[in-house]
Amino acid sequence: MKPSTKELAEHYVMNTYNRFPLVLTQGKGSYVFDDQNKKYLDFSSGIAVNCLGHANEGLLSVINEQSQKLMHTSNLYWNEEQIKLAKALVEKSVMDQAFFCNSGAEANEAALKLARIYAKLHKNKEATVVIAMDGSFHGRTYGAISLTGQKKYQENLEPLVEDIVHVPFNDFNALANQVNDRTAAILLEPIQGESGVHPADKAYLQKVRKLCDDHNIVLIFDEVQTGIGRTGEFFAFQTYGVTPDVICLAKGLGGGFPIGAIVAKQPFASALTPGTHAATFGGNPLACAIGNYIVKTVGDENFLKEIKKKSDFLIEGLNALKSKYPGKIVEIRGKGLLIAVEFSEKSSEILSTCIDKGLLLVGAGERNIRFLPPLNTDKNEISASLEIFEKCLSM
Ligand SMILES: Cc1ncc(COP(=O)(O)O)c(C=O)c1O
Repeated sequence: MKPSTKELAEHYVMNTYNRFPLVLTQGKGSYVFDDQNKKYLDFSSGIAVNCLGHANEGLLSVINEQSQKLMHTSNLYWNEEQIKLAKALVEKSVMDQAFFCNSGAEANEAALKLARIYAKLHKNKEATVVIAMDGSFHGRTYGAISLTGQKKYQENLEPLVEDIVHVPFNDFNALANQVNDRTAAILLEPIQGESGVHPADKAYLQKVRKLCDDHNIVLIFDEVQTGIGRTGEFFAFQTYGVTPDVICLAKGLGGGFPIGAIVAKQPFASALTPGTHAATFGGNPLACAIGNYIVKTVGDENFLKEIKKKSDFLIEGLNALKSKYPGKIVEIRGKGLLIAVEFSEKSSEILSTCIDKGLLLVGAGERNIRFLPPLNTDKNEISASLEIFEKCLSM
């Protein structure tokens, strides 16, 4: 007898994910279909990645044109798309230079190396300590998982990368008490995504900025999840008016194609020199052509304005559900189209019911469900998501 997809998957694929029992085969716009041709409204967006939904026409033609011209060349040579994307990101962020890699974890690795090199050269040789936040998530490579402030992800991986300490998020005194001559960098997500969409306070970020200025500390914002329009501004730091020295990007920048980047101000950017860091695929012409299309589309002022309107509409709808189901929903949090619903109990069952009813959402922590729709979704789709969500709440 022919083995089932599930049997094949369990036999051949390493068991590193708790997956839902779905095999997705195609998508268009905000919808995806499984191998039984069941249709789902995809408000998970590949965990804040598919910012223009699935099979976006503009993106498809960029992929088609660029892949026929030049897909990969290595960084032994220049390619025009990489230079163009670096310029676009620098101009949008008011930073000075970009480095390209392939994922969020890699972006954080690059930032970690940059910060330590910078501190050794411009502070003192012992300044190797990076302060990160409890509850943060920065990826799965050794540097990134060491920076991540959640013990459950670090189990059995010790020894972790040295000289990384964690402090409670949004607690300025706890942070300031950790700072000394050995502090190279402070790394944080302006809105913590994976642990349940917890925004930083504006006053906190302003004080962190000053602390870094006063002590020659590199301030790194991990905007892997919050960047590229997700919060209604192109970068989340713009919603706070607090500018970091280094920004880490990935996810939405490729709209589904793997790409990561850091953009940094000078003199920090100059810490990375030939031989200090590299990535074979980083900044390849295809990834960067896609990135250029995304930056042009999502970075458009009107597109960003629309995200804010859609966000208000979704948050209003979710708050109405909170009023209707006060025992179930505790809080609605978030900015733009990065929104979490916090439940009074574990949310895994509701998440599975949503999938059964044709709505894909993402868990965060034990009691939160994230709405991460494509940024080009519309009010009809948002209304449809609220309707399905309510059905699952009332069950
Ligand atoms: C804030 C943040 N940083 C880093 C990462 C890791 O990104 P990647 O899975 O692309 O390595 C994630 C992934 O969810 C993230 O949310």
